[in-house]
Amino acid sequence: MNILVTGGAGYIGSHTCVALLHAGHAVTVIDNLCNSRAEVLDRVQALGGRTLRFVQGDIRDRDALARAFEDGIDAVIHFAALKAVGESCAQPLRYFDNNIGGTIALMQAMEAAGAQQLVFSSSATVYGQPDRVPVKEDAPLRVTNPYGRTKLVMEQLIGDWCAANPQASAVLLRYFNPVGAHPSGLIGEDPRGEPNNLMPYIVQVASGQRPQLRIFGNDYPTVDGTGVRDYLHVVDLADAHVKALDYANAHTGCETLNLGTGKPCSVLELVHAFEQATGQPIPHEIVARRPGDVAEYWADPARANALLGWTAQRDLTQMCADAWHWWSQGGGLAKNNKEQDS
Ligand code: NAD
Ligand code: UFG
Repeated sequence: MNILVTGGAGYIGSHTCVALLHAGHAVTVIDNLCNSRAEVLDRVQALGGRTLRFVQGDIRDRDALARAFEDGIDAVIHFAALKAVGESCAQPLRYFDNNIGGTIALMQAMEAAGAQQLVFSSSATVYGQPDRVPVKEDAPLRVTNPYGRTKLVMEQLIGDWCAANPQASAVLLRYFNPVGAHPSGLIGEDPRGEPNNLMPYIVQVASGQRPQLRIFGNDYPTVDGTGVRDYLHVVDLADAHVKALDYANAHTGCETLNLGTGKPCSVLELVHAFEQATGQPIPHEIVARRPGDVAEYWADPARANALLGWTAQRDLTQMCADAWHWWSQGGGLAKNNKEQDS
């Protein structure tokens, strides 16, 4: 199929483009590079063994979108979004405009082009603090910040669009905590400035860029008092998108699926797994809880298993080893960021 990938130069998008190229799809990427670099796409093409088409532009720019659709697009995978929770609290309108405005413009362009299939990046953030774990797709939705609100609104808009178009098909993928990198070390997560998320922070402590990890609270009602999440290898996540595309191609209507391993992991467990997988010590101290954090959640991925035939294959050791491999050898992109940020 001819697939348009919005945000394809980003962390999850780049890994998904490699998987799409391997699966034999023709890929067009549209990305405004607000949180990524064009060089990533050279690496994607090297890893995928084939070329892709790149339109540098914003999904809110109708001319850029028209260029992206001009070769005939069958299906869209929609990653392009701003994703920093703290920033979304400070700049909600920017998030509403980019994420929700961008999604409306995208659906309009799909309709104009006759593209009927959409795979969408949602997030476990839509569940807020769940009443019970593991979390199923029908759990109550409780967003706690503007970023999460954009994800929930986008899910609803896509659902409405599907309901109005009997031929349309959408798969809403709620990711738990994607980590790791391509095993080649050529592409990975490349956060600008001080990372918010745990794995990039651990990796930067291991490389000596940061003196120690601050663990946000050890008094949660969890296995060891630290926060519990469901960490998922980004290559497994990328594979799920290829399967979701196949599913969308064979069905109509709107489906919502959790993507996680279904295995809980505490902050301390991840730190120890990283130390064992890489041999790098991670000095850490316990500090106060981070405001807004939930104690624990992990996915029930049974629906994704059943509908897509997908199960996460890679364990914590591989997530840690690949994250470290990327940072210690492919950190060229990251070093550029550091220079730019300072
Ligand atoms: P990322 O920032 O690495 O990738 C997003 C890409 O979209 C970037 O390349 C950015 O330049 C591009 N982009 C943003 N706004 C754009 C616009 N208006 N027009 C064109 N391009 C635009 O983020 P990621 O981690 O790869 O996340 C991808 C998607 O997955 C996002 O929608 C994010 O909200 C969602 N998600 C991510 C996580 C996570 O932990 N990484 C968890 C749940 C959901
Ligand atoms: N943590 C630390 N120290 C750090 C960073 C994180 O102790 O320096 C802890 C957190 O308190 C939490 C756990 O590590 O217990 C995971 O934190 P992350 O920031 O890596 O992940 P979150 O689950 O808090 O949030 C992430 C994204 C959200 C997204 C959510 C669900 O940041 O945008 O996953 O997909 F919504």
